[in-house]
Amino acid sequence: MQKRLIVANWKMNPQTSTEAKELLVSVLSDASDFKNIELVICPPFVYFSSISAMIYDLSSKFQVSLGAQNMHWEQKGAFTGEISAQMLKEFGVEYVVEGHSERRWIMGETDEMINKKIKTALKSGLIPILAVGEKERNNFDSSGRHINTADDVVIDQLTRALDGVPVSKIKDVVIAYEPVWAIGTGLADNPDDALSVSLLIRKVISKMTDDKTARAIKILYGGSVNSKNIAEFLKQDGIDGALVGGASIDKDEFTRILEIVSSL
Ligand code: PGA
Repeated sequence: MQKRLIVANWKMNPQTSTEAKELLVSVLSDASDFKNIELVICPPFVYFSSISAMIYDLSSKFQVSLGAQNMHWEQKGAFTGEISAQMLKEFGVEYVVEGHSERRWIMGETDEMINKKIKTALKSGLIPILAVGEKERNNFDSSGRHINTADDVVIDQLTRALDGVPVSKIKDVVIAYEPVWAIGTGLADNPDDALSVSLLIRKVISKMTDDKTARAIKILYGGSVNSKNIAEFLKQDGIDGALVGGASIDKDEFTRILEIVSSL
């Protein structure tokens, strides 16, 4: 069975490097018991130096790697406050999240920027985790009829983010379906609906590449994942893992999540 990919997005947490190390130690202390999991930890950049060695040491016992929450598309230069792919690689970073809704909607990232970042990540040997998802759960047309915007938004974001990416490289992209309304709200999507978006993503990828790639590409679900609902998402045949925010910085909750995933 393919390993489940669990990505811990710590966002702008915790507040000190001591806490960051403690969180990592407590989550990974039982790591060698966790089966069938590939874990990616995405801490804030400033913790990379204290955390990367710990992750590297553990990686011989357990499949764990370091991820970044963002990067710039240029390799170097006058981009105040930004981080390049090369800088990430120096810390052994393997994955980079691109197009997270908090970057799209709070920091104003556009599909064009995300597209450039995906291309740079792939060229630099980093695995992009492309986040896509609709903003509102319910949309109604002028006559009050419910309309499904999820499909249109996901197709549009996916097409724009992967525009011009060499076909042979698309298989290396991980796609995270993260409905924005589910992020940090405690209102996770319904696993059947998440599966239907995942199937839609595979259809779009199949058109861009071929059926084999569409079947093989990794698709994650993200948005209020916790120990109570993760099993329902991962039991779905087309969902290969999860992008976990809030629950990934709660050591007991995240350990429980890893235990559940390894028992599936
Ligand atoms: P959440 O965040 O698990 O706290 O909803 C998920 C994410 O933002 O990736």
